[in-house]
Amino acid sequence: MTISELQTAIQDLVQQLTAEAPGVDVRTKYLGKKGLFNQLARVLPSLAPEDRKTAGQLINEVRTQLEATVLEREKTVGASTNWVDVTMPGKKPAVGHVHPISQAMAEITRIFEKVGFTRVRYPEVDWDWYVFESLNMPPDHPARDEWETFFVDVPDTTKPVEYDANNPRKRHPSLVGGKMVLTTHTSNGQVREMERLNSTPPIRMINIARCYRRQQDATHTQMFHQFEGLVVDKGITIQHLKGTLDYFAREFYGPGTKSRIRPFHFQFTEPSFEVDFSCHICMGTGKVGENKCKFCKSGWHEVGGAGMVHPNVLKAGGIDPEEYTGFAFGWGVERTYTLKPGLHIDDIRLLYSGDMRFLEQF
Ligand code: PHE
Repeated sequence: MTISELQTAIQDLVQQLTAEAPGVDVRTKYLGKKGLFNQLARVLPSLAPEDRKTAGQLINEVRTQLEATVLEREKTVGASTNWVDVTMPGKKPAVGHVHPISQAMAEITRIFEKVGFTRVRYPEVDWDWYVFESLNMPPDHPARDEWETFFVDVPDTTKPVEYDANNPRKRHPSLVGGKMVLTTHTSNGQVREMERLNSTPPIRMINIARCYRRQQDATHTQMFHQFEGLVVDKGITIQHLKGTLDYFAREFYGPGTKSRIRPFHFQFTEPSFEVDFSCHICMGTGKVGENKCKFCKSGWHEVGGAGMVHPNVLKAGGIDPEEYTGFAFGWGVERTYTLKPGLHIDDIRLLYSGDMRFLEQF
């Protein structure tokens, strides 16, 4: 390199520095160990010996000049890229939240615990005995067809069991074996709860669990949740059932919501009912002004089933139906939740789509 080439290189460097954008860390880039200045200084040995003195002076001068320029810049633009604009809005860390169905289950639990129910949960893969047979549905009973059941392929391990008064579970030989199914409803908790309490009422159970059925459309998913209430005590009547349903309707959907029961049939309750809740849009009238209510069409939403516990079910749980009576009800958490005022979720499959744009709204 010649002296004049060095001079051009120095001029270029100085110009380059003055043209740097505000965000650039010029101190490191120009004056750092591997910076542009040190790179330039490295040409010294390649100069002709008689030029080296002049070149050394030039290089020293440019170092002073670069430092002054960098200092000046730091005063106006801020030091390097590490400067912080304290007036800039912060970045919120992404925080997850409880899934809407978990929120609904927590609310349902709270509502029933307030009036003395105990939240329980039972296996999701259960013996046919608890899901059907103990509920007054013997093998091959046609009523079983209503539940689109997933059967589990496990060997039948039925063994005869001695009667043991201290262990009521052993009262039923089929308890320790038989077919297994994915629970089609939370009613499998009924006899299990009677056994848990050693067949000794009072029983006030709220069982919330996953259920499985072979069905999938806008209002059904193969996996869903149900909640099941069971009350057994002396002198329990339909009035207690109706009062409990009205209480839940008010608490979950808001004051003014009513429940309605219509005659129906289940093997495990007698009498049996279907349960409706009044529509919060038309307040049970079915009309909005002159028009039909679009949300419910009839003033009511059907939600699920209920009834007075069948004597055979009490017997299966070791309870004397002459002494005790009870009521039970059960239905889907998803359906109950999507009817809440203001939600208007018309496809419950969205709840399990994992689509954050949907879930983040709740
Ligand atoms: N288990 C019933 C169903 O899944 C509902 C029900 C529960 C009915 C309790 C009566 C009593 O449809």
